[in-house]
Amino acid sequence: MMESAAHSGEADTTSFHMDRKRHYQSVFQQVQALMQGVDNRVGVLANISALLHEELLHYFWVGFYIVRGEQMELGPFQGSVACYAIQRGHGVCGTAWAQGKTLIVPDVHQFEGHIACSSLSNSEIVVPVMRTREVIAVIDVDSKELDAFDQEDRHLLEQIAALVEPLL
Ligand code: SME
Repeated sequence: MMESAAHSGEADTTSFHMDRKRHYQSVFQQVQALMQGVDNRVGVLANISALLHEELLHYFWVGFYIVRGEQMELGPFQGSVACYAIQRGHGVCGTAWAQGKTLIVPDVHQFEGHIACSSLSNSEIVVPVMRTREVIAVIDVDSKELDAFDQEDRHLLEQIAALVEPLL
């Protein structure tokens, strides 16, 4: 009895992971589709934000910060009102910019210098958009849940970052 229960539990977990993987793949395909033949940068970034916000329910805030000179400026996003500018090395976004790598922060309250645009955010992922070796923008996602982001989110957002690079 116990054994079969354990087995069915395993099957549930596996199918959950498969479904989740498939869902993320389908979201990426939808992103590709809505970029097809469009060179409207603001429109595309706004639609990507809307799609991610709608499809991935733990994405409480999702959007772009775009490097302009010495700072990054708020770009298209979905979610609550956010700060307009972030300096290099400041907050999670500015740190991902300075380090040129994806940052997953399971608990933003433990991240020194985190910029709290909303008091409802508890975890965050920031993925840089790279051109050769330079960061030209970041994709920022916040969640109300603690520890909401994993390698699946990282993979999806890094794929999207590569896709939008030519537009920026
Ligand atoms: N929390 C970010 C700031 C941007 S908002 O989350 C939209 C940070 O620490 O860089």
